[in-house]
Amino acid sequence: MNGYRDLRIGLLGCGSVGAQVARLILAHGDELAARIGARLTLAGIAVRDVDAPRDVELPRELFTTDAERLVQGSDIVIELMGGIEPARTLITQALQGGADVVTANKALIAAHGPELSEAAEQVGAQLSYEAAVAAAIPILRPLRESLAGDHITRVLGIVNGSTNYILDRMDRFGDSAEDASRVASELGFLEADPTLDVEGYDAAQKATILASIAFHTEVPVDAVHREGITQITAEQIDAAKSAGYVIKLLAIAERLQAADGTHGVSARVYPALIRRDHPLAAVHEGKNAVFVEAEAAGELMFYGAGAGGAETASAVLGDLVSAARRHVVGG
Ligand code: HSE
Repeated sequence: MNGYRDLRIGLLGCGSVGAQVARLILAHGDELAARIGARLTLAGIAVRDVDAPRDVELPRELFTTDAERLVQGSDIVIELMGGIEPARTLITQALQGGADVVTANKALIAAHGPELSEAAEQVGAQLSYEAAVAAAIPILRPLRESLAGDHITRVLGIVNGSTNYILDRMDRFGDSAEDASRVASELGFLEADPTLDVEGYDAAQKATILASIAFHTEVPVDAVHREGITQITAEQIDAAKSAGYVIKLLAIAERLQAADGTHGVSARVYPALIRRDHPLAAVHEGKNAVFVEAEAAGELMFYGAGAGGAETASAVLGDLVSAARRHVVGG
């Protein structure tokens, strides 16, 4: 593999997704180098506690607590810490220094996406976040690129894996919400603060990101109507079942046109009754599905794993390869 240029990758965070990203970079180094035309060198992994247990065994010398220094020495920064700070500051520093940034941080992108995109644009860097919505499912790139020439009217789907897991287990196996939540947590689906999932905040963040890209406009997360699943009881699920329905937490974003020709966007997240013969009723466990309706393309459906360490890492790696290729083309 001599002759390849080295690209230094700084990884911020080593939770269930970060550990899988590090594993994939190390395990598939030669294959990725051949595909990209540059070698991805994992320069370091910034964490709070170097000695904390990890999902994957990784060389100890890669770990550092000095995230700022790692950012300064990286060509591409992968941010998987989650939360707003220090992620926002570190990403801004990375972009201002000319590094490309890949993140899965939906909370940050939903709240500060426009500001970070502008910081990237100013220096010609790339900010990508495919993994922030529906984990392994390629949905943001299709919306932004493949459908760029079409007129999208509606984006609708199941975009939270853990609430889908909980509702699905309650519906199909009669599990209690508590038991299903515990397993969802063990599978790495739930956020560190599960309220974000069960109260619909996570789905609302994803609805904001989807709507902003689909409708080429800023859709603040506060503008998304939000209801979670904590009020849903086993009795309601059984009653829905007897009537031929299943309860799913849906995120819906649609373009509205007023009589005077002006446009707006409506975005909402709420538990909805879905007929059992609808394709969304067959989205089980931690899977997600997103329907896109576009004027010329008609109805498209994207389906796959919506949560999980390796599954989310797959989307992060896709963005990483895309960013790395820019260095080769540009370099
Ligand atoms: N907690 C999120 C979910 C993880 O359940 O969908 C993936 O974004």
